[in-house]
Amino acid sequence: MSWGVIGTWRMALEGIMEAEKLLKDGKSSLDAIEVAVKMVEDCPEYRSVGYGGLPNRDCEIELDAAFMDGDTFSIGAVGSIKDFKNPISIARKLMDERYNIFLVGQGAERYAHTMGFQRTNMLTDYSKEEWKKKKSEIKLDKLKAYDGHDTVGIVGLDRNGKMAVATSTSGLFMKRSGRIGDSPLSGSGFYADSEIGAASATGVGEDIMKGCISYEIVRLMEEGLHPQEAAEKAVNKLNQKLISKRGEAKDISVVCMNNKGEWGVATNINKFSFVVATEAEEPTVYIASFSDGKTTYVKATQEWIDTHTE
Ligand code: GLY
Repeated sequence: MSWGVIGTWRMALEGIMEAEKLLKDGKSSLDAIEVAVKMVEDCPEYRSVGYGGLPNRDCEIELDAAFMDGDTFSIGAVGSIKDFKNPISIARKLMDERYNIFLVGQGAERYAHTMGFQRTNMLTDYSKEEWKKKKSEIKLDKLKAYDGHDTVGIVGLDRNGKMAVATSTSGLFMKRSGRIGDSPLSGSGFYADSEIGAASATGVGEDIMKGCISYEIVRLMEEGLHPQEAAEKAVNKLNQKLISKRGEAKDISVVCMNNKGEWGVATNINKFSFVVATEAEEPTVYIASFSDGKTTYVKATQEWIDTHTE
């Protein structure tokens, strides 16, 4: 059976290279995408996920993460969790539970502690400096969402046909304490059904969650649309609805794959990078852009890959 993996942003590259080895080897998509997301969480250069993420208004790193198994529909998610090294592994562990599958704040931290997950200070000197700079630049009530790369969302398909999806993020820079975005919300930040496919979103959670976009993409794939058509149809519809109802649509980008290993991507911004590896394709970084209601993408050059983290 064919296998594949697709992830949001260039930051997914090193993780997807590891995931590729595992999937080629016949390992489970759950293990492959957990390894991939952990590599992003552990890297301080990737400033919107895990260690070295961008802080909230109180200079704290609050992390959101989720995991979904497309065979069983098991979901695990954490929101606003502080001081734990790999939120994605805590989310995966929560998939074992029948109840209490989505924990936030202190409750999530108590669970992680009980389960023996590693506590770490996730704030780096760089993040602290960025926070200080931003705070001195603008008044808090004028703060805008951090615009740039944010959630790492990775979809995997293994040789047994199991699909899974995982997300992890520090959310919006200078968010209010307790703010949770789309990433740990089932149907919005992620969705997986091994009988059809899986999807994940990145961008401004407040807008993404208005369209339950990951579920919508999987639903469109179930209707028979190719992943590329499903992704574009869902993003364009939500983008237009938001503009007509609210006058604007913030950043929305998605990646998806069906259970044949065919993939799709869509965005409403000018530069959205993503990474794909399949049986037919070595890990490849692409840059997608949006114009006239259409998403197009090109392969990133090695120079671009070497000089960008987003
Ligand atoms: N998409 C991540 C967030 O809004 O928190």
